[in-house]
This record gives sequence, structure tokens and C-alpha cells, in this order.
Amino acid sequence: MTSPHPGAAARGPDAGPGAAPPAGTPTGTSAPRRGRPPARNEILHGDRLGGLDAADLAARFGTPLYVYDLDVIERQFDALRAALPPSVEIAYAVKANPALAIVAHLGHLGLGADVASGGELATARRAGIPAERVVVTGPGKRDAELRDAVAAGVRAITVESPGELDRLERIATGASRRVPVLLRASVSTADRLERVRLVGDDGAGKFGMDEPDIRAAARSAARSRHLELLGVHRFGASNVLDAGRLAAHVDETVELARAVAAHAAVPLRLVDAGGGLGIPYEPHEESLDVAGFGRRVGALAARWATTPGMRDLRLLLEPGRYLVGAAGAYVARVVDRKRVGEAEVAILDGGIHHLLRPALVGQEHRVRVLGADPRTARSWPVTIAGPLCSGLDIFAANATLSAPAVGDLVAVLDTGAYGFTESMPLFLSHAIPAEVAIRGGRAALIRPRLEPAEWLDRQLLPVW
Ligand SMILES: Cc1ncc(COP(=O)(O)O)c(C=O)c1O
Repeated sequence: MTSPHPGAAARGPDAGPGAAPPAGTPTGTSAPRRGRPPARNEILHGDRLGGLDAADLAARFGTPLYVYDLDVIERQFDALRAALPPSVEIAYAVKANPALAIVAHLGHLGLGADVASGGELATARRAGIPAERVVVTGPGKRDAELRDAVAAGVRAITVESPGELDRLERIATGASRRVPVLLRASVSTADRLERVRLVGDDGAGKFGMDEPDIRAAARSAARSRHLELLGVHRFGASNVLDAGRLAAHVDETVELARAVAAHAAVPLRLVDAGGGLGIPYEPHEESLDVAGFGRRVGALAARWATTPGMRDLRLLLEPGRYLVGAAGAYVARVVDRKRVGEAEVAILDGGIHHLLRPALVGQEHRVRVLGADPRTARSWPVTIAGPLCSGLDIFAANATLSAPAVGDLVAVLDTGAYGFTESMPLFLSHAIPAEVAIRGGRAALIRPRLEPAEWLDRQLLPVW
């Protein structure tokens, strides 16, 4: 599915996210000094976002504002592609950031797409990603969505339940198509508990099928003239920074898939091990050792290549966060500043209505005050909060930061994944921020700011 990005192979397997040069640094001049952790591949360097002055971006596009650096995304992809063997396909999990310009950029680099709704399928298609590179995953697919995916001729549809398998077979029969399917396996209690730890939610069994159901579904899919059973899908935990753990998940998933395929007497052709490749959010965390992950997967792939019944196996990974997370910043302006008791409090013109993740999963993002003069700036314990009438609307509580003044810009970092579109933008009727992409030091508007008047105009007063 994935045609490797032309530059990827040349960069060698040791390129990792940490090894990527800062924006604007010519490749090859940024070898990290021994003993120091390598610079992160991220949007902020000094006070500049993607090489551009944040004040200029704010003046041009208004605040609050989302900014994404496409060059950061490209370097993340290059590092991953270069680390993995050619039998591994990569599909971008559109849910991480469905901005059309981002999906199109990744599609242009050769990635496929993992879509979880009819809307995401339409996004991937409009972004120019061919249907044969699109996989459809996720619970609760409606008949209309299944019909659209079948009509488009996608790479595979992941089936989440016995009932969904029946509906898909009926739809495939009605369309006189033979539809490629993966069966989704539920994850173990241990993996679910890890998910609680990492993202505060275990899905409570809503994803995939347990072993007896998946075996029965495999037998039934193998018998069907309108379904083509390719293999198994299994998503482990989110935001994993341990390369060994990620590789162990791949290994276990392929083993399970091998048993399921053998049970149904079909060759195992595709295993989708999901996403979950992590990024560091906290200052002390280190980037995922993507080269080490690639080496481990390479060793597994060498084993599969000599195992009967698995020679044609291809592995699919669906990373989202790893590709786009560090590329994004949410930029807001300080509108008020006060001291309450011992606390210095700065109130921004944007908050968790645009970036819910810190409140949703209890994850603090790095916060930076931009443009503070390091010669005069003093660091204080500061609380940085948004304008909502909610005590949850806080980006940093008593953090040691250069105390921002009214009018200063503040960037909340690592917000390229599960940021804007995982939020609640209508709460309190503030403007919905513009989104801007930066590439090669140039900024382009990719989604205009929406003023409250625009959705006020779309509401109706009932005439009784
Ligand atoms: C089925 C599936 N694939 C891929 C992803 C992407 O995960 P991540 O962004 O952690 O790589 C998710 C995220 O929830 C998912 O549910």
C-alpha cells in the first residue's frame, strides 16, 4: 500500500524523531553533542513556531490559533518509514487530526489512511488517498457507512462484532462485491488497564471480539463468497514510549492472527496492529526509540518470512499521535493577569473548549510564554487558565514560567494530535480558532476562524 517517501530510504535506519534537525537547520549539521539528549522534533524552536515569528502569525490569523508544522510531520514519517521493513504498511489514523491539509500532506508522502467514520472516509478521499490505501475501523459503523466503504473499494474493513459481520456480508452480497475484511480482537484486561492509566479510559469491552466470537466469525467469513478474510486487527495501548512493548504487542497480535487464520483454514495475509506509538508530553520523557522499534519488527518480519502460511504476511500500523502530535501548537493571548492570594494568574483568550485533552485525560501539556525577554523575564509560579466558567479550564497550575503580561502570547505544545477536534468548541460561544499549516517557513490558512455570529445565524427559532 505505502510507497515509501522518496527521501526516506536515504536517511537511514538510525534517523529517529529525536535525531531530526530543528526546523530551518540544514540536514546533517545538527548531530547532537555527546551526553545531551537529542533535540526533539517539534514545532517550537526558541520563540518561533515552524521558523516563523509567533507575533506575526497571531497578527495575521488572530488568536486563539492552531498552528501545525508539516515539516515536523514529514520528519516523523521519514524516521518511521526508514526504520520499518518494507513489508510494513503505514496508514495515518485520521482521528488524530482530520484537518484536510494534514491528511493530504500525509497522503502525498505515500501513507494510507485509517478512517473511523463516513466523514473520515470522505476526508481521506478528498485528500487524494486512493481507496486501496484506506482501512475502515471502529465500533458502530452504520449500514450507509459500510455501503460507502464497500462501494469505494477500500483496502480492508475491520469488523468489530458478529452482528457487524452479518450486516457487512449482506451489504457485500447486495453490491455483488467480495470485500476484504479484518476481524478485530479485543485486548486483554492488562492492556485495558494500561489504557486506563494512559488515557483514562478502557473502552469497557466496546472494541473487538473475544476469542470464541472471533474464531466463529473467522469460520463464517472464510465460508462467505462475498467476504475475503485477510487477517486480524488488534489495537493495544495508546501513547506507548517503550519500543520493546510496542514490538511485543505486534508479536502477540500476529501470533493470535496466525491461530485465527489456521482455525479458519485461510492464509494469513494482513495483520493490523493499530497505532499507539507515543510522543513525550512531559519535559522529562524521552522520544520513542523508533529505530529500535523498527529493528525489533524487522526481526519478527524475518521470522514470518520463513514460517509456512505467513510468507505473504503484511503488517499494517495505524499511527496517529506519533506522526502529528509534536507538530502542533495552540497559541492564545493573555487578556488578564491578577494575583489571588499567593497565586499569579494569567487568563488567556482560549482554553479547554479548543483543547480539551488536558482536562479530558488529565495530561499536562508543556506551556511556553512566547517573546519573553530572557534578560528581564523572571520566573514565577504562574497559573495559566482559559476564559471558561469552569474550574477545569487550566493549562498550567502553579508552573514555573516567565510571568506573562497582558498581551503576551502563550503556546500550548504537542497539540497536533487529539487537540482541536477532540474538544468542545461551542461551549461558551467564543470564536472557533483558525488553523494554519507551516511548510518550508511559509504559513497558509487551512481552516478559517469561525465567529459566533456564524453559527448563531444557522440556528432557528421555532415558530409554534
Ligand atoms: C483503531 C485505531 N487505530 C489507530 C489509532 C491511533 O492511535 P494513536 O494516535 O495512539 O497512534 C486509534 C486511536 O484511538 C484507534 O482507535
